[in-house]
Amino acid sequence: MKKQMVTTKRSLTLETEERLNQQILLEGKSSAYYLSMASWCDTKGYSTSSDFLYRHSEEERQHMLKLFGYVNDAGGHALQPEITGIPHDFKSLREIFELILEHEIEVTKSINELVDHCFSIKDFTTFHFLQWYVIEQREEETLSRRALELFDIIGEDGVGLWTIDQEIGNLENFIQKSGPGNMDAPN
Ligand SMILES: [Fe+2]
Ligand SMILES: [Fe+2]
Repeated sequence: MKKQMVTTKRSLTLETEERLNQQILLEGKSSAYYLSMASWCDTKGYSTSSDFLYRHSEEERQHMLKLFGYVNDAGGHALQPEITGIPHDFKSLREIFELILEHEIEVTKSINELVDHCFSIKDFTTFHFLQWYVIEQREEETLSRRALELFDIIGEDGVGLWTIDQEIGNLENFIQKSGPGNMDAPN
C-alpha cells in the first residue's frame, strides 16, 4: 500500500523514509509526554512550569510537522504516529525535569543515528535538513539540565518549590542569551 503511494523517481530511499517516520513518532511522543506533564503541573499549582510545558509540547509538535513537510516534499509519505503509554502521574516537579532530560538524551541519540545513516548513504539533502535538529537537541539538553540545577541551587524547602516554579519561566530567556540558536518554532 505504502509503496504504491510513493514514486520511484526520488532520491529519498525507503529506509530513510522509514527512519524519518520513526523520528516523527518520537517527536509526537515528546509532544504528548510534555502535554501530560503540563497538565499534572497545572493540577498541582505549578502554574509557571505548566505554561512552560504546554509551550514545550507545542514546540515538539512543530518539530514533528517540520518532518511531515520534509518527508512529503521529498516524495515520501509522512505517517500520523500512534502514541500510547504516556504516563499521567508524576512523583514531583523534580522528577518531571529528570524525565525530560532523560527523554531528550534519547531523542539526541535518535537524531545522531539518523544523521549518521544519511551520511553513510550520502543522502546529503536529508543530512543538511537534520542539522536543525542537531542544534535544537543541544539546546534542549542544556535547558533540562539548567532546570534541574535550580532544584539544587534553590532547594525545595519552604518557598523553594514556589521559587523554582517561578524560575522555570525564565529558562527560555537564558537559552536564547547563551546560545546561537533559540527555542522558536521551526519555519
Ligand atoms: Fe523535538
Ligand atoms: Fe525536545
